[in-house]
Amino acid sequence: MTISGKAKLAGVMGWPVGHSRSPRLHGYWLEQHGIDGAYVPLAVRPDDLAAALRALPKLGFRGCNLTVPHKEAALAVVDRVDAAARRIGAMNTVVVEADGTLSGSNTDAPGFIANLRQGAPGLDLAGKTAVVIGAGGAARAVVVGLIDAGVAGIRLANRSAERTQALVEAFAPVVGAVAWDARAQALAGADLLVNTTSLGMVGEPALDLPLDALPATATVTDIVYAPLETALLAAARARGNVAVDGLGMLLHQAVPGFAAWFGTTPTVTAELRAHVLGA
Ligand code: ATR
Repeated sequence: MTISGKAKLAGVMGWPVGHSRSPRLHGYWLEQHGIDGAYVPLAVRPDDLAAALRALPKLGFRGCNLTVPHKEAALAVVDRVDAAARRIGAMNTVVVEADGTLSGSNTDAPGFIANLRQGAPGLDLAGKTAVVIGAGGAARAVVVGLIDAGVAGIRLANRSAERTQALVEAFAPVVGAVAWDARAQALAGADLLVNTTSLGMVGEPALDLPLDALPATATVTDIVYAPLETALLAAARARGNVAVDGLGMLLHQAVPGFAAWFGTTPTVTAELRAHVLGA
């Protein structure tokens, strides 16, 4: 694709950043919409994050995404932070405003919900009960998404009890703690099961979670998308549960940034999924 001197610029800051699929994702949308723009990987060392973010307006960038390890540290750098990023304690999207100031937001929570709604059409989360496995950064985004979608209760199970407690304190009364060893029993009566840990990812052990107690009507989703069909999702599908893979969360979280930087709201399609997976 040709980039002119007037190209709209954005990118993703990470360290390392070479693994990020975001350039491929945004590049697809730029081409699809015939936009004169570029979205580039920005390898920024943790010590350089503040300077790199402050340089965005000086370099004519419209903003950027943030990935590991910058999502939390960026909160202290930008000029304003949206409510979701504040509640989650992490930021994944930065927009350079017309006056050169930086606005930070977190689109992971709505991205998670949008993926769930696309993969499980008709799923009504209001008043429902979810079981969330994990208590890391991804779990915080999932919990905020579920609370905003109106779930009545979240049973949270994590290997380390300290991190479980931190989420319970932050998101009481909706979130309640479940002991790690009681995670299988916690599935009884649940409407939704979410794995937010890295278990099941290529190179990681599978999540050890017998699904016998989970109602057949429950939906199961995983934030892992490599492989697309984790052992958890395969087991869920085999017993008749609706199973939603995690790739769409990555795709949907990117929509608001693209819209802000490039002026067009893109869509998440089967073709986009195949393109991003082909990387
Ligand atoms: P992310 O930002 O992707 O959520 P993270 O903050 O490092 O990453 O969180 C990783 C999550 O996976 C945590 O819930 C972690 O459990 P601990 O808090 O006990 O560390 C969970 N996790 C990773 N490896 C695990 C394993 N082998 N068994 C159980 N949980 C694991």
